[in-house]
Parts: sequence; structure tokens; C-alpha cells
Amino acid sequence: MKVVLLGAAGGIGQALALMLTTRLPKNCTLSLYDIAPMIEGIALDLNHIPVSTKICGSYIQDMTHVLHGASIVLIVAGVSRKPGMDRADLFNVNAGIVRQLVNHVAIHAPQALINIITNPINSMVPIAAGTLTHAGIYQPNKLFGITTLDVIRANRFVADMKGLSPDHIEVPIVGGHSGVTILPLLSQVPDITFSTEEICILTQRIRNAGTEVVIAKAGMGSATLSMGYAAARFTMSLIWALQGRQGIVECAYIENNTSFSRFFAQPVLLGPQGISARRPLGILSSFEQQELQNMRDKLNNDITLGEQFIQKYPMSSCNTL
Ligand SMILES: NC(=O)c1ccc[n+]([C@@H]2O[C@H](COP(=O)([O-])OP(=O)(O)OC[C@H]3O[C@@H](n4cnc5c(N)ncnc54)[C@H](O)[C@@H]3O)[C@@H](O)[C@H]2O)c1
Repeated sequence: MKVVLLGAAGGIGQALALMLTTRLPKNCTLSLYDIAPMIEGIALDLNHIPVSTKICGSYIQDMTHVLHGASIVLIVAGVSRKPGMDRADLFNVNAGIVRQLVNHVAIHAPQALINIITNPINSMVPIAAGTLTHAGIYQPNKLFGITTLDVIRANRFVADMKGLSPDHIEVPIVGGHSGVTILPLLSQVPDITFSTEEICILTQRIRNAGTEVVIAKAGMGSATLSMGYAAARFTMSLIWALQGRQGIVECAYIENNTSFSRFFAQPVLLGPQGISARRPLGILSSFEQQELQNMRDKLNNDITLGEQFIQKYPMSSCNTL
């Protein structure tokens, strides 16, 4: 099995590469790529860890070599938020990077499961879908926006609030991956009940957690270590599903094509071909139903932004390969 990480020299990329080096099954290959020359040193550094994973670092190299034979591709390349920016401010730079990299994947690893970490996720996944459609190989069940960071944050915040261990807490997060589009379904957390006030505090904190980190890092970037952990968890779930393990469910931002929105974060059952089934949202509390309606316009605007970008600048109009 080969896992490819594009943008691996950055804050998330390095944390994720370390997590994967220690967790990938035996004899996996981890292929790291970045436009920063230090990527070769990062690969060498990781290759000193005594595991059987083979780690290759590639800097501005033939993408055939980087991507050939990939089962899973993780895209984390791009710029991150600085104080005062929201995820939408990243759009212009990151849209071009995601389109270019997804086009490489379409050419060199068309069967891979593609996972977008680069923000704003709500718009980057539609850009990836458009790029794959132009390339004639789009398979909606193989494209994911990784929203696991919202889930792990919610698990931790609930545990802290209730004085519990986070080990067995799992909060489903639906909608999207910014501001009001992040909707924790606290009514569905087994065996824990929340007051109205606790629901408001938790929902607000989960939505603002990224900004909390951006401010605390004082201009030096956004969440990297917790994101590395979150993306490693999602990648391991994909690997186990590819290997045939049954019953693996993760929340992710995927195409579901409903009248509510074309893309939506929700629980999905993973299997050897990517998404095996889109799980229904279940019964929502009246607060959650209201918040679902409140996010609708924002989520659809974010999706349209991505779709318009790819209509305006289809990959064929560029010459970046
Ligand atoms: N999905 C999430 O929950 C989540 C959470 C936090 C951050 N993010 C996003 O992840 C992205 C990366 O964050 P970071 O903190 O690692 O940023 P970073 O600036 O530390 O790293 C980005 C890396 O991308 C590389 N890069 C840029 N253009 C490239 C290209 N064309 N090809 C290959 N590599 C390229 C850079 O050289 C750099 O090493 C940002 O967009 C950030 O907003 C997502």
C-alpha cells in the first residue's frame, strides 16, 4: 500500500508524516512531496525511525514517481490562516494549488482515494470534484474533505466539560468545515445529556476552535499538531477499510447531492472502494434542525465559489503540468 502526502513539509504535513510513519501497516510506502527543498531532509529524518515503512521525499520531481501506485492521496499543500483571516481568505491561493495537484492525481493515480485537508474545505472539495470531472475520472465515492479535526476537538471538549475520559466519546459533526457550517450533533452522543446552555457553549467552542489556535499561535499559523493527529486517524480508517475491515464509520465532507446542498459533511461507512454508504443524519433536536437551516446559504455559497472557480479556470486552460 502506498500513501502520498502532498504539501508534506508544512506544519500539518510534518506532524502527519510522523504520525503515519509510526502507524502505517508493515511494508507501506509513504511518499512525501512539497515544493520546499527540505522535504528530502524530512524524509531522511523519518527514515531514521525503526519501522518497516519506506519513506520517500520528493522535491519538484516527476509526479509519476511521486504518485504512481498510490492507494491514498492526502492534499495538505497551501497557505494557512493568520490572525484576522477566516478560512475563506485562503481561497484564491489554495484553489489554484488544489486544482493543480488534483489534476496530477487524476493523471498519475486515477484510482486513489483523494483526501483534501487544504482550507477552505467547503470550496476545495468542489474544486477537486470539478478537476476530476474535467479529467473524466470523477468518482464521488473516492473524494473526501477531512473534517475529523472538528470531531476530535468536540470529543475532547465534551470530555473536559463533563469530567470524562475522551476515549469513548464520539460526537458526529455534520454540515461543513467553517463557522456556522460546523454542526455538532450533541443530541446523538450516547449516554451523555447536555443542558441548553452547555449545547450553546460547546457548539460555539467547536466552531471557534480553529480561530482559538490561530490567535494563540500569534501569527505563526493554524492548527497543525491536532490536525496531524486527526488526519492520521482518518487515514488509518481508510487503510483498514481498504484492507476489508467492516463497519468503519467516519464523518467527512463528501458529495451527497441532496436538495439541501451538493456537498455535506456526514457520517459515512468506509469500504474497499471508498464510501460504501452515506449514513442518514438520524433524529435531530430542534436546536440542530434550526442550525441546519441557518448554515444552508453559507454552505451553498461556499460550494458555488468552488464550482465557479473551476468553470472559470478549468485545468485545461492552464499549462502547469
Ligand atoms: N482540514 C482541516 O481541518 C485543517 C486544519 C488546519 C489547517 N488546514 C489547512 O491545511 C493547509 C496547510 O496548513 P499548514 O499549517 O500545514 O500550512 P504550511 O504553510 O505550514 O504548509 C503548507 C505546505 O504546502 C506546501 N506547498 C505550497 N504549494 C504547494 C504545491 N503546489 N505543491 C506542493 N506543496 C506545496 C508549502 O511549501 C508548505 O510546506 C492550509 O490550507 C490550512 O488552512 C486544514
